[in-house]
Amino acid sequence: MVHFWRWSPTAVLCTTLAIAATTSPKRANASDVLDYVNPLIGSQAGGNVFAGATLPYGMVKASPDVNGENTGGFSTDGSQITGFSALHDSGTGGNPSLGNFPVFPQLCTSEDINTCKFPITARAINYTNDSITAKPGYFGVTLENGIKAKMTVSDHAALFEFEFPRDSNENGSADPLIMLDLTDLWASRQNASISVEAEDGSEAARLKGNGTFLPSFGAGSYTAYFCLDLSGGTVKDSGVWVNNRAGTEPKDLYVTRGFNLFHLEAGGFVRFRGPVSGPISARVGISFISTDQACRSAEDEIPGPEYEFDDLVSKAQDAWRQKLAPISIEPGGVDESMLVSFWSSVYRTMISPQDYTGENPHWTSSEPGWTQGGSDADNVLVDAYVKNITNIDWNLAYEAIVNDAENEPLEWSIEGRGGLASWKRLNYGKSPGCKIYTDFVPSGLAVPYLDFDPNGFGTNSRSISRTLEYSYNDFNLATLAKSLGKDTFKKYIERAGSWQHLFKADQTSEINGTDTGFTGFFQFVPHDIAKLIELLGGEETFLKRLDFFHTSGLADIDIPSRFNSSLAGLPGNDDSGAMASFNLFSTIGLFPNPGQNVYFIIPPFFESVSITSPATNKTASIRNFNFDKGFQNIYIQSARLNGEEYSKNWIGHEFFTEGWTLELVLGREESSWGTAVEDRPPSFSDATGSVGYLH
Ligand SMILES: *[C@@H]1O[C@H](CO)[C@@H](O)[C@H](O)[C@H]1NC(C)=O
Ligand SMILES: *[C@@H]1O[C@H](CO)[C@@H](O)[C@H](O)[C@H]1NC(C)=O
Ligand SMILES: *[C@@H]1O[C@H](CO)[C@@H](O)[C@H](O)[C@H]1NC(C)=O
Ligand SMILES: *[C@@H]1O[C@H](CO)[C@@H](O)[C@H](O)[C@H]1NC(C)=O
Ligand SMILES: *[C@@H]1O[C@H](CO)[C@@H](O)[C@H](O)[C@H]1NC(C)=O
Ligand SMILES: *[C@@H]1O[C@H](CO)[C@@H](O)[C@H](O)[C@H]1NC(C)=O
Ligand SMILES: *[C@@H]1O[C@H](CO)[C@@H](O)[C@H](O)[C@H]1NC(C)=O
Ligand SMILES: *[C@@H]1O[C@H](CO)[C@@H](O)[C@H](O)[C@H]1NC(C)=O
Ligand SMILES: *[C@@H]1O[C@H](CO)[C@@H](O)[C@H](O)[C@H]1NC(C)=O
Ligand SMILES: *[C@@H]1O[C@H](CO)[C@@H](O)[C@H](O)[C@H]1NC(C)=O
Repeated sequence: MVHFWRWSPTAVLCTTLAIAATTSPKRANASDVLDYVNPLIGSQAGGNVFAGATLPYGMVKASPDVNGENTGGFSTDGSQITGFSALHDSGTGGNPSLGNFPVFPQLCTSEDINTCKFPITARAINYTNDSITAKPGYFGVTLENGIKAKMTVSDHAALFEFEFPRDSNENGSADPLIMLDLTDLWASRQNASISVEAEDGSEAARLKGNGTFLPSFGAGSYTAYFCLDLSGGTVKDSGVWVNNRAGTEPKDLYVTRGFNLFHLEAGGFVRFRGPVSGPISARVGISFISTDQACRSAEDEIPGPEYEFDDLVSKAQDAWRQKLAPISIEPGGVDESMLVSFWSSVYRTMISPQDYTGENPHWTSSEPGWTQGGSDADNVLVDAYVKNITNIDWNLAYEAIVNDAENEPLEWSIEGRGGLASWKRLNYGKSPGCKIYTDFVPSGLAVPYLDFDPNGFGTNSRSISRTLEYSYNDFNLATLAKSLGKDTFKKYIERAGSWQHLFKADQTSEINGTDTGFTGFFQFVPHDIAKLIELLGGEETFLKRLDFFHTSGLADIDIPSRFNSSLAGLPGNDDSGAMASFNLFSTIGLFPNPGQNVYFIIPPFFESVSITSPATNKTASIRNFNFDKGFQNIYIQSARLNGEEYSKNWIGHEFFTEGWTLELVLGREESSWGTAVEDRPPSFSDATGSVGYLH
């Protein structure tokens, strides 16, 4: 593969990182793109990012857990560390996610095992702010008591190393203790088991077990399995603990919530004879299938007995370099903090989704998950179709999407589309604007609310957003149906127009008691912007409304001010990388309209960006002329595609796969470039018929 990372020497030499020196990644090699990734961006102020060590899409994600803002495990919010665990999510909202089976190192105050601190509130401890080192594939931190922790990962296992201070504490106990807590971040554990295999005097210990937990978002419960191998010292004693008491017998424990659902804290421990000469290693294998699989993964991926910690870190970093390699930029003198914000966003687009291949116990039945609107996986599938992703059985995909479109599931909070039976019975899917099908249905129809629906059950709300999403889901289904030569496309393209029922032309709006002056409302019609512009009052009003939306404070998603390299540099939670993708696509100047072969063009925030397609190995470039790092020249005056004049304000995915070159000439004033009707993105009721299904 060609190497793509280039940088402008002036950018590297003349600017300083705008983030705290304590948290900036070490800069050993200025040409290493990983130096521009700071996993701590969004680790405070609600970004909820995962800041620890992970492989791209890795199932296992190692990080400290804190007792403050801990949705993603760790946070730089000044709260205290309560453990180190191997499963996390990134940028989710709601309850903290995962954080199962945390391990925790400590030196107890005396020989008496009961002087060790077992429950979370007792053991929580401050860390030293300037000790944090967060890099792709690596995380290190020092606790206030001098214990140093560092961690890295393979796909299904984490490796933690805990280095204890050489000096014993004032009472003379220098025996390192490692405990494991059968809990998760939001104490959702239902029941769990642990068994401790550790002969006194032996050089290694294994703790294994399982626990049933509730998903932080979703229905039902799930069981996770762990296999923890401890080494680096001679075992002094071991056993189990419950609440704040521990004993060396028995070596097994089964804990449940009991009839009153009380969450009892419990787990296992191993104490080593101190002082130990090196770090105590804790290798944690994880599985959703079995304890044996957890142990096997750990043994295969991180073989012992001596662990090559640094090699694992290098492997993880190479994996990340490879993932970031297709993108290269010429910054054009922009602040280095923008580079850090950009590369960190690219990095965060690949933390989730996690690769659970081989670990899904539900594979033969349904997969768990909550739906929030329509059946939007349809859009993702069709997006892959229009971008020519191969090795997919598209007829099977079509069947699945038709199933979403036609059959109301019993539990529509977790799959398919709710209210579908009533929606069909009441004819809400008829398109009022359809030119082929003329049955006009009066406006005001949405996914029904408070209807009689004995067919399925779910959250009976979001009637408007669901109607809009169903209509876009149907548009995507129509796209696939048409391409596969199915005559159902007529039915679905008609349903795709049903969003128009929701438009309320005389709806006014107020902000802070002041009328905005705009009438007629709703949003989100990615397949029919032309009709949306018409309904919202025509071009001039549409532009005024857009400007108002972005300047009134209603939507403040500016780049670079709202996405920056500070630890609080995300305007809200990263939503499993959705915000990161927003930053990535906006910054490179090509924003996708998923489900369609369309990227909207704006000038990149760098002088140029090149992207090599992994499908063809061809490199596409988008380049600004008259670029200025102060972002004064932000309006496209003219464009050339592969040297030829290009007037459309959008481009297809071929740009990437064919390795085209797009050159944009910028200026300070708005121009008429890209504004002609025929230069706009396709819309299905567009007069020019660029989608073409109905004409
Ligand atoms: C810098 O890092 C790159 C990528 O790992 C490597 O190929 C190169 O040899 C390094 N250069 C120096 C001077 O260390
Ligand atoms: C560590 O940083 C956090 C967040 O910035 C801050 O609240 C806390 O006071 C700092 N702790 C120390 C000891 O400086
Ligand atoms: C932990 O650090 C905070 C400052 O971030 C401080 O207020 C608190 O007293 C510290 N706790 C302990 C036990 O030292
Ligand atoms: C040392 O032992 C004494 C007596 O048991 C106890 O009061 C004190 O808290 C211990 N010191 C520490 C640091 O735990
Ligand atoms: C553990 O809890 C889960 C969920 O409540 C339950 O399905 C399972 O039967 C329990 N297992 C045992 C061994 O009690
Ligand atoms: C958890 O482990 C215990 C002890 O080995 C075992 O009895 C139980 O069946 C396991 N639970 C699950 C759900 O695998
Ligand atoms: C409405 O009021 C809030 C709170 O005072 C303010 O932050 C916001 O900017 C105002 N919005 C508009 C559009 O005036
Ligand atoms: C960085 O981003 C955060 C979150 O959007 C924002 O609150 C803050 O003002 C920004 N900082 C700068 C210096 O722009
Ligand atoms: C792209 O290049 C890589 C590395 O040289 C090679 O392994 C791969 O087969 C190439 N792919 C295509 C589609 O040519
Ligand atoms: C997909 O493949 C078709 C047929 O080869 C081609 O015409 C089209 O341009 C391709 N689309 C993309 C986005 O690459």
